[in-house]
Amino acid sequence: DKAGHKHFMAKEIAEQPAVIGAAVAHYLPAGAQSVQLPGDTVDFADVERLVMVACGTAYYACLTAKYWFEQLAGLPVEVDIASEFRYREPPVTPRTTAIFVSQSGETADTLAALRYCRDKADRILSVVNVPESSIARESDLALPILAGTEIGVASTKAFTCQLSVLLMLAIKAAADRGRLGEVEVADTISALRGLPAAINLALDQGKAIRRAARRLSEARDVLFLGRGLMYPLALEGALKLKEISYIHAEAYASGELKHGPIALIDKHMPVVVFAPRDALFDKTVSNMQEVMARKGKIVLVSDDAGIAGAGDGVWSAIRMPQVHPVLSPILYAIPAQLLAYHTAVAKGTDVDQPRNLAKSVTVE
Ligand code: M6R
Repeated sequence: DKAGHKHFMAKEIAEQPAVIGAAVAHYLPAGAQSVQLPGDTVDFADVERLVMVACGTAYYACLTAKYWFEQLAGLPVEVDIASEFRYREPPVTPRTTAIFVSQSGETADTLAALRYCRDKADRILSVVNVPESSIARESDLALPILAGTEIGVASTKAFTCQLSVLLMLAIKAAADRGRLGEVEVADTISALRGLPAAINLALDQGKAIRRAARRLSEARDVLFLGRGLMYPLALEGALKLKEISYIHAEAYASGELKHGPIALIDKHMPVVVFAPRDALFDKTVSNMQEVMARKGKIVLVSDDAGIAGAGDGVWSAIRMPQVHPVLSPILYAIPAQLLAYHTAVAKGTDVDQPRNLAKSVTVE
């Protein structure tokens, strides 16, 4: 049942305020001043290192979480793609907690990576959407993301729910390790509780996003750029676009532009930039100027201050509300998904069942 939407993907994008609200309320019940895990057996104070493993979109959720765990909790994190991790036979040192992220809980490579860590890691956590899945069953603790059934092959609400749960885990880690004061924890928690409202505002930007998407639908290649927490999101935005519109898309950390991809820029190249006005914004503005000087076309996703600060010459601007900086990857996922969705609709591709892809990859 598409609940009045044209595609399951559109329905699942629209459901995000509700499902993220449910995930936040599950780990941060009303009145709670700290993140509550089931059984409450996890204490990050003694953990020396995290290893996070996943595939596809779930891998990008892990890459985002690396920034959170490192910045908020001071915990070193290694992130790997499951198909690389499992065959590389990496050493898993003592006091390592391994975290596996998977919507289906059945991805063959992720499950194999989990089994590889079974006797090596101190603890195996999983972040899953299907609580009875193999990955959930084989972990010491499975944390549900509560996204509800996701039918569209392109993952949307599962991604933002994975991010929400991982952020709450990072906040817990920061609190356990004494890295975040009470005030900071309270600030972040109240910002998280306000996230569904901010996501509704992002969903309201449909018109500007459709306009940008119509332009993107004529491109052969699209570049995505982001810095810091926006870099993994740029990777996710590019994956979404290629999966459902079949337009070649690539993502780079903005600072890498000069190290190669700038050679691709000409008047035919749209460049989608995710850049809230944060501490890294000015650096990204210079990257945008480098693109515009070569006639590249910028689609800027930012807040009011960022759009004003970027000056003239931006091809399309998509306005996001201002949120606590740690939440930006969750909020900015909405325009990333909608850009891919409307581009695919403009091209007339099969949004829910893109060619060659399966919802769950249970073979290698
Ligand atoms: O079920 P999983 O989260 O383990 O699946 C991982 C990937 O196969 C999945 O995220 C894939 O990349 C999606 N098609 C992304 O939209």
